[in-house]
Amino acid sequence: MSYSPAYHSACREVREHFGDRPHAVCVLTFGCQQNEADSEKLRGIAADMGYRPVDTPEEADLVIFNTCAIREHAEQKVLSYLGGLKKQKQQNPDLLIGVAGCMTAQEHRVGQLKTSYPYVSFTLDPASLPDLPRAVAEALRGKRNFHLGEECPPIDESLPTLRREKHRAWVSIMYGCNNFCSYCIVPYVRGRERSRMSSDIIGEVEALVADGCREITLLGQNVNSYRGDCDFATLLRRIAYLPGDFTVRFMTSHPKDVPDDLIRVMTAYPDRIVPHFHLPLQSGSDEILRRMNRRYTAASYLETVEKLRAAIPHIALTTDIIVGFPGETEEDFEATLTMLKTVGFEMAYTFLYSPRQGTPAARMEGQIDSATRADRMARLLALQDEICLQQAQKYVGKTLRILVDGRSRIGARYTGRTPANKPVHFLANESRIGTYVNVRIDRAEAYAFYGTWCD
Ligand code: 5AD
Ligand code: SF4
Repeated sequence: MSYSPAYHSACREVREHFGDRPHAVCVLTFGCQQNEADSEKLRGIAADMGYRPVDTPEEADLVIFNTCAIREHAEQKVLSYLGGLKKQKQQNPDLLIGVAGCMTAQEHRVGQLKTSYPYVSFTLDPASLPDLPRAVAEALRGKRNFHLGEECPPIDESLPTLRREKHRAWVSIMYGCNNFCSYCIVPYVRGRERSRMSSDIIGEVEALVADGCREITLLGQNVNSYRGDCDFATLLRRIAYLPGDFTVRFMTSHPKDVPDDLIRVMTAYPDRIVPHFHLPLQSGSDEILRRMNRRYTAASYLETVEKLRAAIPHIALTTDIIVGFPGETEEDFEATLTMLKTVGFEMAYTFLYSPRQGTPAARMEGQIDSATRADRMARLLALQDEICLQQAQKYVGKTLRILVDGRSRIGARYTGRTPANKPVHFLANESRIGTYVNVRIDRAEAYAFYGTWCD
């Protein structure tokens, strides 16, 4: 444990400010699992300042927006939500509003927040989570509208985490990205790749398992480029080898480097490692892939898929697709459709290309008009719906080991997830929440399953 003295004294200052008065924090998360994991840290740090976590801004003395910058839509969502808080701030001038996360690692957004959202108390870039107590302490002293940011500081292993769920957890194994896909803002806002030491990761996993956690997802922008004191396959092997009743997932893998050793580890621990690979394809056209700087081709992607399926025939494959990348022709788009049919993904997360300021693709010629993008997206979704349904039918009659998440929104059922992370609904009872049950799949829809608990 190496919290800096400044961290402690700022936490103390905040606690003393409130004295005996209870105070609450609401952390609103936008974006990916990495942000979910960071939000757990933000809640943990806020707890060190005496803040109790609550779910809605109305109950809170401190609201933190943990923002996403991956697409324009994500940023607009944050801004409109922020706009909605103006009234609450007017009614309660003591309310502190902090904006953290990827949006705040972009100068133009920090500037915009300063001028157009002056009631925001502070902004804090994603690498500066340990500075949250300092930001809150300064805001409580009356400082307004300021930014705290630091470029790529070393990983702070001592930050506390306050997890909402007991039986599932995200564990970040690395931060940042070095790939510089030409459309992507992540390398700019999250900085260069930094990997945690394997002993720190394994220690965290052991503690989670001892505390009753049943499913651990190892997180990184590209887990295959994990380079702590070992490579990713070795890290996964060491985690898989630990005692206890738990399963491991990981995401995301870059299709350019799926090592054979990783596939070997997955086959060696079939009950421990969830048979799922999220392998973002982005496009099926070699020319677009080249311009995206993805460093693989449709053919090499298919080779990887074949290798995975030869080793683990029932593996669930999911992907990300970008529609309307600059210069995407009808033929390029059709190559993507062909790849979807050839691979047969259980799930494809589809995104309209969104130009991100400062990325090479935003300056490329041939930006696609919105009508064409919308038309392609509609065709892509229609095809993927069909493929999802076909893929889902494979599970009917099969029995899956499912971790029970909680009550389903559908009737009296309970819910869990398939390897591809699709919901499964079944009758069970309260006592099984957080445990594994065997569920026979009776009926499949494109995006949900219905089954019978048959332990
Ligand atoms: N526009 C659209 N989609 C994007 N993604 C990343 N950057 C952009 C962008 N500028 C998508 C990619 C990535 C997923 C997390 O988000 O498909 O895999
Ligand atoms: Fe973005 Fe590419 Fe890095 Fe993924 S691998 S975070 S898409 S730059």
